[in-house]
Amino acid sequence: MTTDHETLANLLKEDRRFEPPADLAAAANVSGDAYEHAAKDPGAFWAEQAERLTWAEKWDTVLDDSNPPFFKWFTGGKLNASYNCVDRHVEAGRGDKVALHWVGEPEGDTRDITYAQLKDEVSQAANALTELGVETGDRVAIYMPMIPEAIVAMLACARIGAPHTVVFGGFSADALASRIDDCQAKVIITSDGGYRRGAPSALKPAVDEARTKTSVVEKVLVVRRTGQDLGENGWDDDVDVWWHDAVGSASTEHTPEAFDAEHPLYVMYTSGTTGKPKGILHTTGGYLVGTSYTHHAVFDLKPETDVYWCTADIGWVTGHSYIVYGPLANGATQVLYEGTPDSPERGRWWQIIEQYGVTIFYTAPTAIRSFMKQGREIPDQRDMSSLRLLGSVGEPINPEAYIWYRNTIGGDRTPVVDTWWQTETGMIMISPLPGVTAGKPGSAMTPIPGVSADVVDDDGNPVPNGSGGYLVVTAPWPSMLRTLWGDDDRYVDTYWSRFKKQGYYFAGDGAKKDSDGDIWVLGRVDDVMNVSGHRLSTTEIESALVSHPKVAEAAVVGATDPDTGQAVVAYVILRENAGDGGADIVKELSDHVRKEIGPIAKPRQIMIVPELPKTRSGKIMRRLLRDVAEKREVGDVTTLADSGIMDLISAGQATST
Ligand code: WT7
Repeated sequence: MTTDHETLANLLKEDRRFEPPADLAAAANVSGDAYEHAAKDPGAFWAEQAERLTWAEKWDTVLDDSNPPFFKWFTGGKLNASYNCVDRHVEAGRGDKVALHWVGEPEGDTRDITYAQLKDEVSQAANALTELGVETGDRVAIYMPMIPEAIVAMLACARIGAPHTVVFGGFSADALASRIDDCQAKVIITSDGGYRRGAPSALKPAVDEARTKTSVVEKVLVVRRTGQDLGENGWDDDVDVWWHDAVGSASTEHTPEAFDAEHPLYVMYTSGTTGKPKGILHTTGGYLVGTSYTHHAVFDLKPETDVYWCTADIGWVTGHSYIVYGPLANGATQVLYEGTPDSPERGRWWQIIEQYGVTIFYTAPTAIRSFMKQGREIPDQRDMSSLRLLGSVGEPINPEAYIWYRNTIGGDRTPVVDTWWQTETGMIMISPLPGVTAGKPGSAMTPIPGVSADVVDDDGNPVPNGSGGYLVVTAPWPSMLRTLWGDDDRYVDTYWSRFKKQGYYFAGDGAKKDSDGDIWVLGRVDDVMNVSGHRLSTTEIESALVSHPKVAEAAVVGATDPDTGQAVVAYVILRENAGDGGADIVKELSDHVRKEIGPIAKPRQIMIVPELPKTRSGKIMRRLLRDVAEKREVGDVTTLADSGIMDLISAGQATST
């Protein structure tokens, strides 16, 4: 386990408690009875939640568990996700309600989009995609900045039953190509670029490069966002189509077809323990039930009065579940922001909260920690009294960050919901309920109503209160992943083989139950790192390093980092013919990782070493490398084939810093 025991002991001494504010509790969407009610008959509970949606045909069976772990939800039911997120609000007379307060990074570059306008644009885009040859079941890749068209593109895909795969705009051309290839996406939706830190940042060239690495792409639909020059060979008339031409000229009339509840909605790639990213498959009915219920319950959304803002990028699952599908299914009014938190000034987020009267705010601990460092003077310049609820996601929130968030941003008034979930779970699984739970800084608390999770030992037995173990989900839930795209075996193997006897879903996280039985998530127990709330695989970065001609071998570990939670630290053995690699070897390797995967995977530190610590069977002992990276005394080396190696590496570390 990556979290060290001292930190954990301190955490569990945390005894501050924050009761829900009385007015919030009195009017909360969900009360404490929900837990017991759901536990009595989870199937009936989820069927009740499914009534939140509009179904073209009602389901026959809530949960089909005849072939575990391939569970199906709401079988026989038919619905359209896009209709549920857009049309039905217009039909209910709420067409003039703002769906998106979009804020571009350049100041003053804003757009308010009502549900009626969103319906028209989504319909146009759906017609345009059909015109480009996209059929039900075809995959479409989306590689875009945070502009309204990104959401329109996702909903247009959903509308015609073409699963989307959104690739984070910060990923490299290689990462984009491998994802396109894996799910055989025949159309890419992108833009010329987006704004990052005050300057246009190109996206289209990466799409062009990705296209040279795969032969499946037939058309590229391009939004003009920055108007930047595409370069001499930056446009291919046979393939590239401007969004404003194709979508702009399409009809605003489009009749959504109802699809099976189990029709694939999207594939989202995420890092696993091997080098190859996993294509997490989510389907339509259960996913929409799960995201809409949790958004209603955990964020206490009151669609008529709340202004909700989730700062995630749509390139991650948080953007899918809690910007697009959950909030829009619930008819929310939300802020969508294109840029970075510090552009053009460090208080940009707080200015946006003040300007739009944001009431519910959802962000990540890594962002909170960076604001803490800048000091409270910056947020204090803004009136944020509109806020009534704060959320956190992506990694454990340390108690100090929790308290700062609650005090400085939340005016010591707002509950903080620390929400544990994963790309795989699709929806929030463990979290306080804002009108019910007395929050403890640092704890995600208990599974939400309708979800069963536990902390178990190696044999799959629940650990007693006060002990740690593995976090598992003990019963199927509606928005669970259905499989890994094209790889059922890896799906079974990764998530369901560890606790096969019990039939538990293995989340890959370590956790502890405190003396009250509340859950504290500690971090990954596998070779997956969590850097600024983003999942990175050690093997994936090792593969990237080894693909460099000067590198013979590489080992990567996630080391504790005060800003990013964990940081990437790499140990590299150079090839003999590379000599000492040259003066710029560290920068060269670092740039290489950036190019292969993307800026988020860039190591904090790269150490050139003569050997790596290995067991007699040849397995790299990352535990020891982590000790060095975290500047701890190196632990037990008795299983090393050559016990002198750690001295060499530690000595190198001492001289390299
Ligand atoms: C991993 C999932 C869910 C959207 C963002 C990340 C860690 C996530 C928490 C939390 C402690 C958390 C876990 C998990 N994680 N939320 N509230 N407390 N850890 O999605 O990329 O699929 O990563 O993020 O380690 O397994 P993801």
